[in-house]
Amino acid sequence: MKLWGGRFESNESKLMEDFNSSLKFDKVLYFQDIKGSIAHVKMLNKCNILTDEECKILIDGLNSILNDIESGNLLIEGDYEDIHSFIEINLTKRVGEVGKKLHTARSRNDQVAVDMKMYSKDKAYEVIKNIKDLQAVMLEIGEKNNVLMPGYTHLQRAQIVTFKHHIMAYYNMFERDIKRILNAIDILDESPLGCCALAGTTYSIDRDYTSKELGFKKPVENFLDGVSDRDYIIELTCAYSIIMMHLSRLSEEIIIWSTKEFDFIKMSDEYSTGSSIMPQKKNPDGAELIRGKTGRVYGSLMSILTTMKALPLAYNKDMQEDKEQFFDSINTVISCLKIMTGMLGSMEIKKSNMIKAVKTGFLNATEVADYLVNKGIPFRKAHEIVGLIVLYCESNNLCIEELKIDKLKEFSNLFEEDIYQFIEYRNILDKGIKKEI
Ligand code: ARG
Repeated sequence: MKLWGGRFESNESKLMEDFNSSLKFDKVLYFQDIKGSIAHVKMLNKCNILTDEECKILIDGLNSILNDIESGNLLIEGDYEDIHSFIEINLTKRVGEVGKKLHTARSRNDQVAVDMKMYSKDKAYEVIKNIKDLQAVMLEIGEKNNVLMPGYTHLQRAQIVTFKHHIMAYYNMFERDIKRILNAIDILDESPLGCCALAGTTYSIDRDYTSKELGFKKPVENFLDGVSDRDYIIELTCAYSIIMMHLSRLSEEIIIWSTKEFDFIKMSDEYSTGSSIMPQKKNPDGAELIRGKTGRVYGSLMSILTTMKALPLAYNKDMQEDKEQFFDSINTVISCLKIMTGMLGSMEIKKSNMIKAVKTGFLNATEVADYLVNKGIPFRKAHEIVGLIVLYCESNNLCIEELKIDKLKEFSNLFEEDIYQFIEYRNILDKGIKKEI
């Protein structure tokens, strides 16, 4: 089950064989591997390295393997070193000796590099699609719940915002995430196929042809770099880590909002779990798991950065370690985006509790100070006056707008009846974030 062996006198130990094999995780590359091989065969035919007949036999054989894998008739398992060996050996089993011509002018080094780039691109677009689904739900719930809520700094009530403005903050974070992914795709979009092991080939091959055939912008310029570049895996895992960080911040808010202490949202039963002992519990496990899985994706980033850090040119087997964690981070980020989309789309926003929190948090105190500034008082002085008003209100259990004008005048005789209009919550919003809400 090996692609090599001629120069060996005895067999590899079973222990080493298992240690070396990547089939159980790189099998996800079967589609890209077969597509890459088909493009390679077409190119060899075009360059008169394979005859028309050989080309047809190989392509038919590769397509039959693809069909059988997808229909479940061919299981990717057994004592193969990797997915590349699995497909090549199975091809030879099906089409005979001509199968052994597939690897002409190619190495597994450029093969795995091109497979990984294609897989990374396909999955990156899948991540973007899932981000867009989440953003669509954010727009929808923001629109439906354009309700006042407290904005926080230090997790202390600070100024008035709306739920829509709050959720759109995340929308904007995810917009940047999409740009980061597209940028990583743009940088990686050069085909390494044809670099061969590290130094190209004596055959006159056409790298532009395979590059185009496989949907890349152009072939890579440098062979050594082409086979040993894993920057794009690091960049994408970094982009995925940032997505997870954003999802985790939002999860944290969902967890806080669903406490009885805040009580701003009601999680749907679909996305909540219970306790085996405390009958009253309804826990936000989805949000907690997203927060927890963030560490896992960060770990993948550290892992691949560390694997690559001291590798001499060009290919080294260390690079096989780029796969498991990268694949895991892709799956993790996609499942977390889906869960977040479901959680947000099904939760209930408790508008009246949000408004109650706005009314009891002195969230118009800054605007009271602004009112005095408009009447000619320096801001620092106005700040102090309003601080004294807040102190008074706190000890009398009142909000600022509940104070009669005579009381306000005791703090500053510049207060007039128009203060109440000025610090009315919707008016404050109109002057502040209105353009966005
Ligand atoms: N499974 C290997 C990997 O993922 C494929 C490349 C093998 N190349 C080699 N020279 N042994 O990196």
